[in-house]
Amino acid sequence: MEQLPALIKGTIGRNLVVLRTVVSTNTFAMELGGTGAPHGTVVIAESQTKGKGRLGRTWASLSGTNIYMSLILRPGITSGNATFLTMAASIACARALREGTALPITIKWPNDLMIGNKKVGGILTEIKSAGERIIFAVIGIGINANADGDAFPPELRDTATSLKIEASREQQKDVLVAGILNEMACWYDALMGDERKVMLDEWRRLSSTLGKTVRVTTGAEVLTGTAEDIDEHGMLLLKVRTGEIRTIHTGDLTILQQNGK
Ligand code: BTN
Repeated sequence: MEQLPALIKGTIGRNLVVLRTVVSTNTFAMELGGTGAPHGTVVIAESQTKGKGRLGRTWASLSGTNIYMSLILRPGITSGNATFLTMAASIACARALREGTALPITIKWPNDLMIGNKKVGGILTEIKSAGERIIFAVIGIGINANADGDAFPPELRDTATSLKIEASREQQKDVLVAGILNEMACWYDALMGDERKVMLDEWRRLSSTLGKTVRVTTGAEVLTGTAEDIDEHGMLLLKVRTGEIRTIHTGDLTILQQNGK
């Protein structure tokens, strides 16, 4: 990561904390945020001993090969709008990884980074709020950069992949990280500049979910239908068999019918 500081052009990543091993970059960044770390601070680690995934899962954090980082942001928005931060991060990752690898990276709702039907990265946002106000947000990004297939735990081998596997060549992690942080600085500015429509449209362009037959597991139920669109808040609009449109706030989505991109 020696090259990284010189590659960072925007405000995100100017204050960089590089660690060898950490329990979770998100946990570390939440603590740093609580002690007043400035907006744009980025924590990046070579490995995590207890990486966290969405929905209370663990994030397999193989040593050395992949990207584990967390961005501390201090946006003046309400916690109801935190979804847009995660959306900005997924767009930034998809664009930067496409640019850096020429691989057809897509976003699976809500914010999984995919190549075909395999996951190559994920995002976990945590916020510290006071009432409706966000004091700071931590955007955790995990990218499977240089993992070999046999490095994944057996239960992930059918569903996870890495950039190295897909591109058949080793990736320069610092170049990819800089690309993500530079893109993120732009999309963060777009969000703060109230360009949400531009952001929603870019998410749609990069999405591999819309138009597909999908199964969504929410806390309460399992729904099958067509992923019609996202609404102005980034929620999934799912058309179920009765023709009714259901608005899905969060959940786990499986694409049942792989057509198109
Ligand atoms: C997901 O479940 O898709 C989200 C995975 C997020 C993993 C990243 S790795 C860096 C950061 N630190 C964590 O503990 N989790 C996030």
